[in-house]
Parts: sequence; structure tokens; C-alpha cells
Amino acid sequence: MQIVLCDDAEQTAREAAKWVQALLVHKTRPVLGLATGSTPIRLYQELIQLYQQQKISFANCTTFNLDEYFDIAPAHKQSYRSFMQTQLFNHIDINLQNTHLPACSQGQNPRLVGLEYEQHIAAAGGIDLQILGIGSNGHIGFNEPTSSLASRTRLKTLTAQTMSDNSRLFSPDEVQPTMAMTMGIATIMDARYVLLIATGLGKAEAVRQMVCGPVSAYCPASVLQMHEHAIVVLDKAAASLIS
Ligand code: F6R
Repeated sequence: MQIVLCDDAEQTAREAAKWVQALLVHKTRPVLGLATGSTPIRLYQELIQLYQQQKISFANCTTFNLDEYFDIAPAHKQSYRSFMQTQLFNHIDINLQNTHLPACSQGQNPRLVGLEYEQHIAAAGGIDLQILGIGSNGHIGFNEPTSSLASRTRLKTLTAQTMSDNSRLFSPDEVQPTMAMTMGIATIMDARYVLLIATGLGKAEAVRQMVCGPVSAYCPASVLQMHEHAIVVLDKAAASLIS
């Protein structure tokens, strides 16, 4: 695990952007794994700037998102598809046909959707660099504590902790989804590089368990200790219990 300590959230975004830039510049057909949530927003802003300065292009890039809420219309403003459009895709030269999320509606079989998502990733040549955030309970993707370390893309029920952490993003009249399709832990571990970003005091305990704790399904992110190329970019607050 390579740990990059930064002064603040802005610096974490700049540091993380360097890894994405290196991939886009050096690989002819890069495959990027994407995350949603508050943490990567600054990174996406950095990437948009680099694109506007013509330092990077997404024209040949294929993307796979970690997760998507179950049975949500792509155009719904709370869908992760909408999030990606607003925060990144609408501002860069990516071909939308090459952007993928594990969307699954009521009428579909989640097992088959999960299997097809895995097949799509494999057909694209595997993920070169997977961007990750971390939940305050140590989740990566929506692999909540006790998820199998061998898991693949599948349907998961969100924990009370995750529901409560994410409730800030929903207004009182909106229904907060309780289930999501998520890449599995083994799917994430297959990526050639993983780049986890954590900022703020609220992540400090999860970061401590990820970095210093035993590898355990109770803290899914701790499995990254076993990844050959795991880069963890932290601001001072998120690193406060390990430094
Ligand atoms: C998002 C995802 C989640 C988030 C995590 C942290 O696609 O898979 O694991 O990365 O919940 O979310 P934020 O960044 O909002 O604290």
C-alpha cells in the first residue's frame, strides 16, 4: 500500500489526478474504474481542467462505475448515471457508449446483470485504474462489512450506517434507495491499480482499520493491504489516526 499524505482535500484531488493523467497519457485504450459520492468530485473537477487544458483526452477511454442504485431510472436525478453525467461526462470528450454502470431494474435478474457486467469488464481488457472512496464503516463500492472478499458484481442491501451517511444527499420528499448493484471485492482487487481517496475526520477510523487493522471482511477496505498496486491518498484529517 502506497500512502500519499496531503495537506487538504484540494491537494488529495491534485495528487489523485496525476495517476489518472498518467494512465490516460500512456495507455492507448485506458480502462478507468469510477466512483461516485462526495470524495471524487474534486478529482473530477481537476480532470475536467486537465481536459480543458488539452493535457488529457478521454476519447479512447472506457469506464466502469463501481455501483448503481437498484431499479433507478438512468435519468433520475439521484442515479449514479446522472451523477457521472453532471460531475464528469458532460464536460469531457468521452464517448458515452463506452461508459458503463451496473444498472439493474426490477424486471431484470440481478445475478445475470452482475455476470454480464463482469464479462464487459473482462472484454474491455480489465480495469487499469480503479478510483475508490471509503465508507465510514470501511466499505468500498457498496461492499458493506462482512461482504465476501471473493465477491463479484451483485445486489447488496445498504447498511443502516451507509443509509444514514448518505441521507444528507436526499431531500425529505425523496425516497432513499436501500439496495444497489456493486462490483464485488474480487472485482475491485482485479484492477491493475487501485486509487483510494479519503478526506475528513469522519473517515479517520475507517482509514486506520484499512491501513493498520487485520485484513478482515469487517473492514472490506482492509483487503487493499493485499493489492500489489494500491495507492491511498489522504488529507491530514483522514490520516490523523495513523500518522
Ligand atoms: C461510491 C461508492 C462508495 C463511496 C463511499 C464514500 O460509488 O462506491 O463506496 O465511495 O460511500 O462516499 P463519500 O465520498 O460520499 O464519503
